[in-house]
Amino acid sequence: MTAKSSESRNAESFVVTIDGPAGVGKSTAARLLAKELGLLYLDTGATYRALAYAALRRGMHPIVDAKAIASLAKRFKLKFHYKQDGSLQVLLTGRDITTAIRTEEITEAAAQIAQHPDVRKAMVACQRRLAEEQGPGVVVEGRDTGSVVFPHAAFKFFLDADPAIRAERRQREMARMYGTQPPLVQVREQLNFRDRLDRHRRVGPLVKPDGASLIDTSHLTTEEVVRQMVEVVRRSSAH
Ligand code: C5P
Repeated sequence: MTAKSSESRNAESFVVTIDGPAGVGKSTAARLLAKELGLLYLDTGATYRALAYAALRRGMHPIVDAKAIASLAKRFKLKFHYKQDGSLQVLLTGRDITTAIRTEEITEAAAQIAQHPDVRKAMVACQRRLAEEQGPGVVVEGRDTGSVVFPHAAFKFFLDADPAIRAERRQREMARMYGTQPPLVQVREQLNFRDRLDRHRRVGPLVKPDGASLIDTSHLTTEEVVRQMVEVVRRSSAH
């Protein structure tokens, strides 16, 4: 855990980061933790997905057209809107693309465009702007939020879990989202593919940030994960 404790929480911006691989339970944990701490949450994966969506709509290729995608990222008009129930709405130049960015095609393209250094640079700027717009405090989740986007965050968490368990969770999530359940081997392959890209890229790879608290979520419910995080935050506030 990082040492920037109570004074940061009272300062203008209080940031908590949650990083980890796909299927580890980051999004739900981030949403619940934000609620618990009275903050909003920022899903940085959604920014890469939205950019992938915009690029594909323009006929760009996620691997080949790195330059054009980076240029698109720089003039990207992305907005996050939070509904009364706390759920996130992703708006691209005013258009609601919340559901459209959750397809398999976008999942794959987002992982590919996230490899390009210039794209990452523009997206980090976009994520910082979005965090600022959320108000004085935010829970941010992604792959490089504690290492690159907010290296001075007040608290950093890194979630990990057994790959077999992550694949089962992702399979259940896909069944909920699409109404069909792909075979487990296929889900594992997709996760491996994304893990490899995320862990081995040159810029902003998936790493446990310095000072982050590691939580293995393999055998924990989301509520238990969030309870551990809240304890870390409160313990530090007590000092
Ligand atoms: O988290 P989610 O699966 O929505 O992220 C979509 C893709 O965006 C990931 O596969 C990952 O490659 C990329 N990503 C990233 N850095 C982040 C968040 C997501 O590279 N901070």
